[in-house]
Amino acid sequence: MDEIRELIQAAAATARKETSEEPEPAFTGSVAYPVDCSVDRGLAGAIAADTKIGYVNGSKGWLIYRGYDVFDLSEHSTFEETSFLLLNGHLPTSAELAAFEEKLRSYSQLPPSVIQVLREMPINETHPMSALRTAVSFLGNWDPTADTTTVEAETEVAIRLIAQIPLLVGAIARLRHGKDPVDPKPNHTLAQGLLYAMNGEEPDAKTARVMDVALILHADHGMNASTFTTMVVNSSLSDMYGSIVAGIASLKGPLHGGANEQVLYTLEEIGNPDNVEAWFTKAREQKRKVMGFGHRVYKAYDPRARILGPLAAKLTSADPEMKALYETAIRLEKAVTEGLGTEKKIFPNVDFYSGIVYRAMGIETAIFTPIFAASRISGWTARALEYLGDNRIFRPRAVYTGPTSVDYVPMSER
Ligand code: CMC
Repeated sequence: MDEIRELIQAAAATARKETSEEPEPAFTGSVAYPVDCSVDRGLAGAIAADTKIGYVNGSKGWLIYRGYDVFDLSEHSTFEETSFLLLNGHLPTSAELAAFEEKLRSYSQLPPSVIQVLREMPINETHPMSALRTAVSFLGNWDPTADTTTVEAETEVAIRLIAQIPLLVGAIARLRHGKDPVDPKPNHTLAQGLLYAMNGEEPDAKTARVMDVALILHADHGMNASTFTTMVVNSSLSDMYGSIVAGIASLKGPLHGGANEQVLYTLEEIGNPDNVEAWFTKAREQKRKVMGFGHRVYKAYDPRARILGPLAAKLTSADPEMKALYETAIRLEKAVTEGLGTEKKIFPNVDFYSGIVYRAMGIETAIFTPIFAASRISGWTARALEYLGDNRIFRPRAVYTGPTSVDYVPMSER
């Protein structure tokens, strides 16, 4: 797996070189509330919580989990270890990791009734994220601990969902095509298990490692919409299943995780590399957002795209059709970054190249966002649990801009 390691090292070196001139962030070490911050539409700039879980520095292009650079985690860690890190705050000892993996394995059977629920919905007409949302909700209905809203009980639910969401994603991917779900294998890692659950075939080591890297890269990302949604629901002392259902619903949207699916549709719509410039000119005229570009926080190249882009190049090089898809993407990156001007600082985000990586693994486009959920479950639960430890219900304000003294008009006079 040296080639993947070298690719990550090269991406990290470029990232560090390109942003070395950016100032180091000033950490205060503690937050004294109330804090002063300016808030824009979409809560831009609002500080919703303080956290030790993860940090995104948009100008340096940093993504940090519990102090560790995501480049280092992608190179050296596994998704199991990264999930443990996010949940517990430190890298596990070998005994701690073995116990965590054993606990994950103990949850590696889905209740047959959840498969029945999936079978009973119009599964090939339902978006897989909607099917996943329903399935997670159903899992909660069968867990007698679901309404125990202590950190301890919800941590158990978190581990259960880290084990079971990949299995649900795999079952949904198969049932959509009339195939029966396969039984999980106890020796599989989460990445292998996800691939096996989708394809029913033993994944080769390289494919499993690429999936592991993708899961690490998507595991946490600051106060993004689905993480905030999960935390808001959990802050009312609702239940972790419901909070995750809400997170899945939020991630589904094309402005968020759903962008990875839309990117593939865009590339297919463009058709081939030579059509890119004309397509982009028209998209600009129509004021269309180009999926997979732009970010609220990053004003430097997204570190996740720095790894996923070269991975996409490597995985597509042998197949002419896939190579053309990748070349279309590269031409689109050039057109967008040059066409929108450097002042806007629009770069590809995580969703731009992840879909090409998944497509190269033979995964269906509609399953890309569920794979994102199978990873982000670690970040969602880690952050919801951290907040639960010192909980205060989220309750911002809205500025009322309507009238205040309208006289009630009886129905007969309207
Ligand atoms: N294509 C064209 N123009 C863009 C794009 C884009 N993808 N993204 C931002 N802009 C422009 C936007 O039109 C605006 O220009 P102006 O100032 O002239 O009005 C400016 O850049 C700022 O954009 P914004 O929409 O106000 O930024 P935001 O922080 O509200 O939204 C975003 C961030 C990610 C929703 C947005 O960039 C977008 O819609 N991107 C496409 C969807 C996408 O790729 N989403 C995945 C996000 S990353 C992973 C994840 O969270 O799942």
